[in-house]
Amino acid sequence: MIETGLQNKVVIVTGAAAGIGRATARRFAQEGCRVASWDVTEADPEPGGLFQKVDVSKTASVDAAVEGVMAKWGAIHVLVNNAGILRDAQLVRFKDGAISGMMSDEQFDAVIGVNLRGVFLVTRAVAARMIPAGGGVILNASSVVGLYGNFGQTNYVAAKAGLIGMTRVWARELGKYHIRVNAVAPGFIATDMVKSIPEKILQTMVGHTPLGRMGQPEDIANAYLWLASDAASFISGVVLSVDGGAITGT
Ligand code: NAI
Repeated sequence: MIETGLQNKVVIVTGAAAGIGRATARRFAQEGCRVASWDVTEADPEPGGLFQKVDVSKTASVDAAVEGVMAKWGAIHVLVNNAGILRDAQLVRFKDGAISGMMSDEQFDAVIGVNLRGVFLVTRAVAARMIPAGGGVILNASSVVGLYGNFGQTNYVAAKAGLIGMTRVWARELGKYHIRVNAVAPGFIATDMVKSIPEKILQTMVGHTPLGRMGQPEDIANAYLWLASDAASFISGVVLSVDGGAITGT
């Protein structure tokens, strides 16, 4: 039995209405945390927790929600930057001798706005509360594709690789305030986000996963819980792959 030291801690989970975020909010609540669940989609709070309608890509929305958590609980101990979207398209699609499509400005900006700028906005607002309080833990949702690239995901991979960079900067900048900053790089996890992927491609992905299965949201939630816990108190600036051993491109 690991002593997590997380009982009663205040945790913000972004994108908590579905998938990995919902499982993460639930897991921290089970551990006795007070969880603020943030999402653009309405959802029930965890027992003893709070739901806030927040668009992480909007400064005013984020700042107001942070104020709300502080007003209710007076502290923020853990932030899980989980919210994310997909808008896949090839950079340039060339078919039957003609250009038949491109990734649009809107597709690029939407994904950067939520998956990269959103992480920046939320972390900035939360770090400004953690520093004077003397510490905290910040966890960011990268992806296996942020490490290896992926067909049709210029925008998404740019964001997921970019936030690995931000994780390392913040680990350096915030360490002296006893704030640990780490990223998790999930492999393919069975959530709504991957439901749009054709069955054949999913089977190929499972074939590239040594553990021979897709991940479950709880696999990632447990990784966040452990990284946030006292058991990981000397870990900062890392990217933890939680992907069943998947190595893309092999
Ligand atoms: P999901 O699509 O099931 O859930 C994402 C949640 O984020 C939704 O509830 C959505 O409403 C919320 N959201 C979207 N835009 C938002 C915004 N502007 N502000 C606040 N909330 C917003 O996604 P899933 O699969 O649970 O993924 C969670 C995170 O893990 C994402 O960052 C994703 O990129 C990452 N990830 C997921 C993988 C997978 O295989 N499912 C693999 C690697 C990374």
